[in-house]
Parts: sequence; C-alpha cells; structure tokens
Amino acid sequence: MLFERPDSGERAVLVHLDLRREDERENLSEFQELVLSAGGDPVAYVSGHRDAPHSKFFVGTGKLEEIRQQIIDHDAELVLFNHALSPSQERNIEAALECRVLDRTGLILDIFAQRARTHEGKLQVELAQLHHMSTRLIRGWTHLERQKGGIGLRGPGETQLESDRRLLRARIKSITKRLAKVRGQREQGRRSRSRNEIATVSLVGYTNAGKSTLFNNMTNSEVYAADQLFATLDPTLRRLKVPDLGPIVLADTVGFIRHLPHKLVEAFRATLEEAAQADFLVHVIDCADEDRAANIEQVELVLKEIGAHKIPRLEVYNKVDLVIAQPRIDYNDVGEPQRVWLSAQSGEGIDLLLEALAQRLGEELVAGTLALTAQQGRLRAALYELDVVSAEHYNEQGLCELEIRLPKSDFNRLAAAENLNAAELIATQQLKVC
Ligand code: GTP
Repeated sequence: MLFERPDSGERAVLVHLDLRREDERENLSEFQELVLSAGGDPVAYVSGHRDAPHSKFFVGTGKLEEIRQQIIDHDAELVLFNHALSPSQERNIEAALECRVLDRTGLILDIFAQRARTHEGKLQVELAQLHHMSTRLIRGWTHLERQKGGIGLRGPGETQLESDRRLLRARIKSITKRLAKVRGQREQGRRSRSRNEIATVSLVGYTNAGKSTLFNNMTNSEVYAADQLFATLDPTLRRLKVPDLGPIVLADTVGFIRHLPHKLVEAFRATLEEAAQADFLVHVIDCADEDRAANIEQVELVLKEIGAHKIPRLEVYNKVDLVIAQPRIDYNDVGEPQRVWLSAQSGEGIDLLLEALAQRLGEELVAGTLALTAQQGRLRAALYELDVVSAEHYNEQGLCELEIRLPKSDFNRLAAAENLNAAELIATQQLKVC
C-alpha cells in the first residue's frame, strides 16, 4: 500500500481489523487520513478479520506477532490502532510489543491538540486528554518518551503526564472551572446576539466536508481551511447580509466523526453548543465521498446527542465540481428548499444557498395561541416588542393567552432566551409552523 509520506513524521505501524459487528467497524481510508493529519508516517499496515476483539490484546496472539515483526522490520516507533482500546488492552499490547501504542481516541485527541487555536478550544482538548489519560497512567517505561513529545503526547496535557492522580484531579477541576468561565462569556455573547434579533445559522457536517471553505467563501474571511481532518476546532462566528433577508450570524463548527467517544462529545459540548443553539443548521455534505450516506447518519447521531436534531436545516451537497453536477436547489413537496448543490471552493452555487436561506429563514412562521404563566412576563414583553401579538386574553387557569404569528427563527430565539424549548412549545401548545 502506498502512502503519501510526510517528511518528519513518527514511524507508525497501522492496525485495522474488520470486525463482524457493524457498530464496531471503522473506515480504513479515514484511518489513513487521521494518521496523516496527526503527522504520522505510516510505514506498515497490519489488517485482519475477527468476529470480536480479543479481550487481552484486542488482536489475536498470531496477529500480535505479525505487528511485532513489522515494528522490527520498519524500525517503527509507534503502533496505531483504528479502534478504541480499553486501558488494559492498551497496556497489555504495549508491554507485549515494548512499543508505544495509541488507539483511535488517542489519535483523534492528538489531532485536536494540534488544531485547537482559541483559549477555549485548548482548554477543552486538555480536559479531554486528561480524562483519557487518567485511566491510562500506569505506563512506566514510556516515561522518557513523554518528554520529547510525539503523536498522542503533545498538547497542553503533556506536562501533567508524570503527575500522580491527585494532581491530575486537581488539574481537571481547575480546567473545568476555567472552561465554565469562558463558556459563561460565550453565553453572554449569544444572549446579546439574540437580543439584537439576528438569526444564527450554524454550518455542521462531517470532518472535511468543506464547512470552512464554504464559511470563508460566504464571509470572505480567512478561516483556516486545509485538507486535514478537524482543521476547525473552535467555532468561528461572522455576520453577513443575506439578500432579501437581512443580517445573519454564520457559525463554523468542529467537524463530526464516527465513533467519537461519548466523553469527547461531552468535552466538545461547548463548541458543539454553537450548533445546538443555532436557529438554523446548514448540514454540509461532501457529495463526492463514497461514504456519504454513513457520514450523514453520523452527523444526525451527533446532532441528536447534543439536542440539535429538531432545529430546521438545509442540506448542502458540496464539491459538485468533483461529481460533474450543476449547482441547483432541490425543493420538497411543499416547495421548500431542502438541498443546495454547490462548490464551496469555486463559489459556484453560493448565490443559490443564499437564496434558499432567505426562503427558509424568511418564510417559516409560527402561528397560533401561546399560553404563558405569570413568570413568563419577559417572553410576553419580547413578543409585544416584536409586534407579533394580535390578541390577548386570560383563560380559566389564569394563564395569559397570546395570539401570535412570527418567523420561526424569531420564535426559537425568544424561547431560547427564556431557556424554553421552542420545538416542545410548538408541540404542546396550540401553535403550528406554517
Ligand atoms: P473540518 O475542519 O475537518 O471539519 O473540515 P471542513 O468541513 O471545515 O473542511 P474544509 O473547508 O477544511 O475543506 C476540506 C477540503 O475539501 C479542503 O482541501 C478544501 O479545499 C476541499 N474542498 C472544500 N470545498 C470544495 C469544493 O467545492 N470542491 C473541491 N474539489 N474541494 C473542496
């Protein structure tokens, strides 16, 4: 197998097994991309089939021998598994091979550590690394290697590796506190945006789908776009004006990836929150990727996990230049734009995306009767301020019933400002989206 070799990467043996269970399967070409993104130099590749992982070494003992031989033949410094290993499996393999071992989670974390740019992004990575490492502390012989760095050993968490668990816990506590503060500041920013009544549109999608390229092209800014996984780790926000609609805030977010461990999703919640709190999502899809359908499914899963699956969305089928298709808008039965085919790179079709956004954000209305309690006076005032209340009366339970009609994005925003779930309100009250 031929790999594109970076000049000074760590020499790594790659291990990938075909497992029987669908939910344990990983994608091989994505693994290679991950390794290259981390700056690894894949010198050998060991593959195989197994019904289920071996409990002690993940691979069978014969396969373990094969890996050992490859390490010797290629003078490798590192073994990378395209699977999540348990801490004890990782330890057992390291002890058996006398070589450093990193699993898929460790690899992704390493890429995150290299890519994080903002203060918040760095804190999130450190926290996730510390959590991951706290279960993997007993690893005496790799001690020296830790000091020179390398894949899985970089990043802000590095200096803590020699610390004992007590120090680790203290560090986790302090970072959690600092993160809470940074998040508080971000929340304030979000609130002031919602006060200004500007809809937030978040770009979400599988890693490498082209979100940053689209973001740059739409906003003419220079956000880091590279053919590397997770080029964007920190959300980036820009204001732009959509013709026939007005200003919106566009947010670029971290790319999603399959089998992102739950702990990692947790750690990146703040970044993903930008998506969860958006009024509208643009799901960017690489239409030339052969795993397109599976990637879409993964994104849907993460959106569900962060509670963003009910936010209205538009699909962007990006990279049309690679599939020889023309930019176009696909509409659903009721004439709503559902999907826009475009090329973020050449810019072809971005005008169609803006047109579709104007239609979707401009047209969806929430209408009907909203019953409010006495404690929800602020929401009532905000609705009046928007001039969207046509009648008001009190019902038998003493609730204030308002007849309202307003764009759904406004409704979502006002609800969010009061910590209410807009979708739930629409479902449980006499409201409908039209
Ligand atoms: P993450 O940060 O990993 O989430 O990636 P991303 O979704 O932000 O992708 P990014 O914009 O970094 O693009 C990934 C790669 O796809 C880059 O090499 C882009 O140049 C390329 N790319 C983006 N849009 C297009 C397109 O329309 N056509 C082609 N051919 N390539 C594109």
